[in-house]
Amino acid sequence: MFAISPLFVCAALALLRTTSAVGTPFGLAAGTTGGGSATPSVPSSLAQLTTWLSDSTPRVILLESIYDFTSNEGTTTGTICKPWTCSPNPQVAIDANSWCEDDEPSAAKSTATWYKAGTTPLAVASNKTLLGKGSSGGIKGKGLKISGASNIIIQNIQIVDINEEFVWGGDALQIDGGSNIWVDSNYFQNIGRQMVVTGYGAVTKTTFSNNVFNGQSTYSATCNGCHYWTAFFTGNGDQITFALNYLYMTSGRGPHVGGFSGYFQDIHVYNNYFVSIEGNALDPEIGSKILLEGNYFNAVTTPTLTGAGQTYIPTTSAQTAACSSLLGRACVANVLLNSGALLAGTDTGTLNGFTASTYKSASIMAASAVPSYVQAHAGVGIVN
Ligand SMILES: *[C@@H]1O[C@H](CO)[C@@H](O)[C@H](O)[C@H]1NC(C)=O
Repeated sequence: MFAISPLFVCAALALLRTTSAVGTPFGLAAGTTGGGSATPSVPSSLAQLTTWLSDSTPRVILLESIYDFTSNEGTTTGTICKPWTCSPNPQVAIDANSWCEDDEPSAAKSTATWYKAGTTPLAVASNKTLLGKGSSGGIKGKGLKISGASNIIIQNIQIVDINEEFVWGGDALQIDGGSNIWVDSNYFQNIGRQMVVTGYGAVTKTTFSNNVFNGQSTYSATCNGCHYWTAFFTGNGDQITFALNYLYMTSGRGPHVGGFSGYFQDIHVYNNYFVSIEGNALDPEIGSKILLEGNYFNAVTTPTLTGAGQTYIPTTSAQTAACSSLLGRACVANVLLNSGALLAGTDTGTLNGFTASTYKSASIMAASAVPSYVQAHAGVGIVN
C-alpha cells in the first residue's frame, strides 16, 4: 500500500458516500440527479434504448451489455480527404460540410465507405441516468448528444468503435448547451473524432470524472497509435470540473479549451493521470481560464502547449501558495515525471475564474497519490 495523505483521505471519504448505484456527483455537477428514483430498466433493443434516451420521461436506463449500432443503418460511400501524410495508418477525413475544401484544400481526395450510424448520435434528453452494469455495459458504433438538456448522469458505460479511421466519422459524447451533467466512470476508445466535446452553447454545472480516455488506436492523425481528438471544451460559457480521469496514449486535446473569440470557459482540471502521451495534453486557446492542480504527468511529451488561453499550473510551493488570496486555500502542486517542460501555466490572473465555493472546497489529493488512485478507480466495472 502507498502512504495515505490527509488530503487523500478527504477525497476517499467523499467517494465513500457514493455507495448507491450511481453515487454522488461532486465538483460543479453536485446536485445532479439524472433519472432520480425511477426504477432501473434494461432496454430490450437498440430502438428502445434510442427512445428511452430521448423521450420526456425521467428514466434510469441500465445497460448490462453492449448495444452495437455499428451496421444498423448500413454504410455510405463518399468523398474523403487525406490531410495527414504521416505513416503508418493516418486517419482520413470525411468531407462533411465541405470541410476538405474549406479547411484542407491542398489535401489529396479519394472515396471511402463508412458506417452511417456513427455520424448521427443518439439524442439524450433531460432527467436521464444512463448506467452500465459491471464492466460490459455500453454503446458501440454510435455516440451520444446532449443539446440544451439538463440533469443527466452518464456512468459506467463504454462508448467505443465509432468509425475510428474517419475524422467526422462521429464523436462519442457531444454536448451543445446543458447543465447539471455528470459523466463519470466511463471508457472511451476507437472514436473517429472527439471522445468528448462541448460547444457551442454553454455547458455548466458539469463534471467529467473517473473516465478512461484510452487513445491506443490503429488509426491516428499523428500516426503514432495515439488518438489526437480527446476532449474539446469550447462552449460559450462552459464551466466544467475535469477530475480523476485517466488519459492514456492520447496525442492531443487533453483537453483543448477555447478557441473562439468572444467565448469564455472556466475549466478546473485536477487529480488526473496523464500517461504515455506522445503529443500534447493541455491545449489552452483564446477565451479559456484553466486551473490545473494535483495532476500527475507521466511520460507526456508536451504537458501543455502555449496558447492564447489563461492557465495556472503550479509546481512549486510559492506557486501553490499564490492561490490562497483568491481561493482561500493553497493550490495542490502538479507533478511531472519523464515529461516535457511546462510551456505555460504561471498566469495568476487565471485564478479570477475560480473563486466560487465549489473550487474553494474541492477535495484534492496530493499528485503523488494520483497514479495509484486513478488506476484503481477510473473506468467501468468499479462503481456498479
Ligand atoms: C426534469 O425534471 C424536473 C424536476 O422534476 C422538471 O421540473 C423538469 O420539467 C424536467 N425536465 C424535462 C425536460 O422534462
